[in-house]
Amino acid sequence: MTDSLKIEIRPVTHPDVPAISALAREIWQATYPGIITQEQIDFMLEQRYGHERLYDDLEDADKWLDQAFLNDRRVGFAFSEIRKGEFKLDKLYIHPDVQRRGVGGQLIEHVAARARKLGYPCVILAVNKRNTAAIGSYRKYGFVVRESIVDDIGHGFVMDDYVMEKKL
Ligand SMILES: CC(C)(COP(=O)(O)OP(=O)(O)OC[C@H]1O[C@@H](n2cnc3c(N)ncnc32)[C@H](O)[C@@H]1OP(=O)(O)O)[C@@H](O)C(=O)NCCC(=O)NCCS
Repeated sequence: MTDSLKIEIRPVTHPDVPAISALAREIWQATYPGIITQEQIDFMLEQRYGHERLYDDLEDADKWLDQAFLNDRRVGFAFSEIRKGEFKLDKLYIHPDVQRRGVGGQLIEHVAARARKLGYPCVILAVNKRNTAAIGSYRKYGFVVRESIVDDIGHGFVMDDYVMEKKL
C-alpha cells in the first residue's frame, strides 16, 4: 500500500519543549542501547534535552531548533548551530516508526539551505562510530568522514565520534 506523505518542517517554540524532550527520550531509547550505556543515555538526555536546557537553546541566536511533522504527527527534529566558526548539524532524530521515509533527508536539506544562505562552505556533524545506520544515511546525503575524535563529556563518559562534513 502506498500512503501519501506530507512532511512539514516548523521551528520549535516554547510550548513544544515538553513534547520534544519526550520524543528525544523515545528515540534515544530505541537507538543507543548497545552503543552507549543506559547511564550515559540518561546523563546525555538530561544534559541536552532537559526542559530548561531546551528553553535556553531557544533563546540562543546561534542555534536553530526545527521539528518535522509527518501527516501532522510530530516525528523528529534537527538542531543546528554555529559552533567555533562552523555550521553544525547538532542533533537529528527521527521516530523509529517512520525512519527511512525521507524525513531525515528533508531536515538535512533544510539545515543545509540555512547554512548556505548564511555563507558557510560546509555543514559538519558528529556521529557515534558505532551508529552505522546513521553514518549510512549521512553518507547518502553527501557527508564524508573528516576526522575521528574522542570527546570527554565528564562524569566518566566519552563520545567516540566521527566528525563528518558535507560541502555546500
Ligand atoms: C539517521 C536518521 C536521522 C535518518 O533519518 P531517516 O528519516 O530515517 O532518513 P531518510 O529516510 O531520509 O534516509 C534513509 C537513509 O538513511 C539510511 N538509514 C536510515 N536508517 C537506516 C537503518 N536502520 N539501516 C540502514 N540504513 C539506514 C539509509 O541510507 C537510508 O536510505 P535508503 O532507505 O534509501 O536505504 C534516522 O534514521 C534516525 O533518527 N535514526 C536514529 C537516531 C540517530 O541515530 N540519529 C543520528 C544521531 S547522530
